[in-house]
Formats: sequence, C-alpha cells, structure tokens
Amino acid sequence: MGKTLVDGIRGGMTNTFDVYDSGGNVLVKQGGTLKDSVIPGLKKAGIFFVYTDGGEDLIHSVYRQKTVSELLKIMRCFILSGGEDAGILKKYGEDDIKRFLSAANETGNRIAYGHIFRFFASEMADSLNENEKQVYDFMDYRNRDNYNGYHAVNTACIAGVMAHNLGLNDAEKADAITGVLLCDVKMNIYKFVNENRELTGPEKDEMRQHAVLGFDLTRKIYGIPARAALITAQHHERNDGSGYPKGLKGSGINHLSAIAGIADVYDAMTSPRPYRAAFTPHEAWLYITSNSGKIFEKEAADEFGRCVPAFFPGDTVELNGGETAEVTQNSYGHPLQPSIKLIEKTGKSAIISCTDSGKKILRTTGTIRQKEL
Ligand SMILES: [Fe+2]
Repeated sequence: MGKTLVDGIRGGMTNTFDVYDSGGNVLVKQGGTLKDSVIPGLKKAGIFFVYTDGGEDLIHSVYRQKTVSELLKIMRCFILSGGEDAGILKKYGEDDIKRFLSAANETGNRIAYGHIFRFFASEMADSLNENEKQVYDFMDYRNRDNYNGYHAVNTACIAGVMAHNLGLNDAEKADAITGVLLCDVKMNIYKFVNENRELTGPEKDEMRQHAVLGFDLTRKIYGIPARAALITAQHHERNDGSGYPKGLKGSGINHLSAIAGIADVYDAMTSPRPYRAAFTPHEAWLYITSNSGKIFEKEAADEFGRCVPAFFPGDTVELNGGETAEVTQNSYGHPLQPSIKLIEKTGKSAIISCTDSGKKILRTTGTIRQKEL
C-alpha cells in the first residue's frame, strides 16, 4: 500500500483504509475501487491523499477505522459546543446505549457523554491488545480547517499506543484515551486561535485557561473517571516545571497526564497551524526524545521514542551516502531504522533494512503532508 495524492488517483486503484471527513462520514470505503468521480468529493472535504493498494509500504493503523470515524463524529459535536450540546446522544438507539453502558459496567439507561467516550476508549484498548508491542505510523486525513476533532482523536490514538507499550492495564489505557479526547474541549471558545497569525501575550494567557475550564467541565461529566478528567487539567504541565496552569514538576504530574502531554505536543507539531507550517515527524520526534527527562517525563518520552517512528511509510529520505530512498515499513524499537527502498534511476530496487544494511537516514526530503502546503 502507499499514499496517493488525490490528483494522482487513477481508475482501478484499491482504497486500503476507510476515508472519512471531519464529521466522521465515510467518503470512500476500505477495499473499494477508486474512480475519478470520487476526486471532487475528497477535495471538497479537504482530503489530499488516500492510502492505496499496489505499493510496498506497510502502515500500522492499530485501531479499527470504523471506531475512529464514529469517534470523530462525536468529537465534532462535543467540541463545537464546548461540551454543552448533547444532541449527538439522540442518534443512538437502545442497543447502542446498552453497549455504551456495558463499557462502564453500568445498568439502567442513564446514558451520558461519559459513557460514550468510555465505550470508544475501551474499544480502542481492545484493538491495542491484539498485539504485544505496537508501532503507530498512520497519518490521518486532516486539513487546516478541521484541526480540533482530528487532533483530539489522533492524540488519543498515540497516547493509547504509548500506554499499552508501557504495560498499563486496560482501565489505565481507557482512562488515558478518554482524558486525551476531552483535554482541549474548551479550546473552541478562543476564536483568535484560528486566525492567521501568532497569538499576543494576553491571548496566550487567555488560551491557557482551556486546561482549567476543561477540567471544570470534564470532572462533572457522569461516567468520566477522575484520573481521566485530571489529564485535562495537567496535559500542559511539564516535567521541569515549565508548563501550565500550575507549573507542576516531575512526579507531581500524573503518569497518564505526562503520556498525554507528549502525544499532544507531537500531534500539534506535525500539523500545519495558521501561523506555521507542519514540522516533519522526524523533527517532532527529535524534539521529544532529546527532551526526555528534561521537559518530558523520561519513562513516557523514551516509550514514545520506540513506538512512534521518526519517518513514515511513503516519506522520501536522504541517506548518508547521498542516495534517496522511500520509507516502506517501521518496526517497534527501531524508530530511526525503517525498511527502505532505494530510489534508483534504473527503476529496480529491493527493499532493504536500515539496521542490516548500515544505511543511515539523514533527513526527510518529502512527506505527503508537506506536499499539501
Ligand atoms: Fe491543550
């Protein structure tokens, strides 16, 4: 499989993962044949690439795309209303409600947002349990205009993988995922955040209130455990005391919050923002791993360095011998040494492993997300 730019879609390609818009609606189904006619709809949704069959890249998506797309729908409703609109609850029937309640061992019919988040977080924890150690190198379909929902879901995906690989139990994994989903719920009230400029000092101070306001909301949601709500309060605290709102240090920050903070920084850095371009995965990876034990909790940052790779399948990279290669597959614990395919003028090249061949990647020269900009 490989990543194909929307303009590069040619009749007959097979779609490898469900493609969904920011409202969680599936635009092209997994396994479906891509036709030219889908291009306008994808462009309208701001989607600039799809994963297609035929290439040699192997992506670790880890979670079921159906779960992710349904969660996006809920996040959109939740975030747009600052957590105040329960309208999304109306679309669920009796069977759904029973499923949601069962994830929190609840009986009766008192369904709340908390149960829905808990249900999806448990589903995600189940997906994680299908393998012992996981690598996460799936790139979602976000664009500049639908950042908040995708950011919440993708950050939760990364935090879940980190929690799983750190050996946390199912309840801890589900709490980490739930907390991350909710941590920026109040961000939508700061309209200046999406303006095409850097924030002023007073605006930054105001925006930093989202952690406190979010905590005030999430701790009151029926069905949300206290430890998950705490992530909302602490996801911007930093190991060295440089974070906010309280400037907590080291063990004063809950382990799940420390995991959440790293996943949040990584996903934000690798997204284009109105005031800057996206950093490459390699740049964000170096920032986090080089600050292990400093800005970021050592245990969590070191695990991040093992399970989130520095290079993504489909990226083109420059090697130490001056050659150009395409990244094809990552493996757990070898974030800087993926399998690669040398791009040679003859057109013939075998897939080789960086570890076995002694090849070293110097830098990313092209990612599909950069091509969008
Ligand atoms: Fe935040």
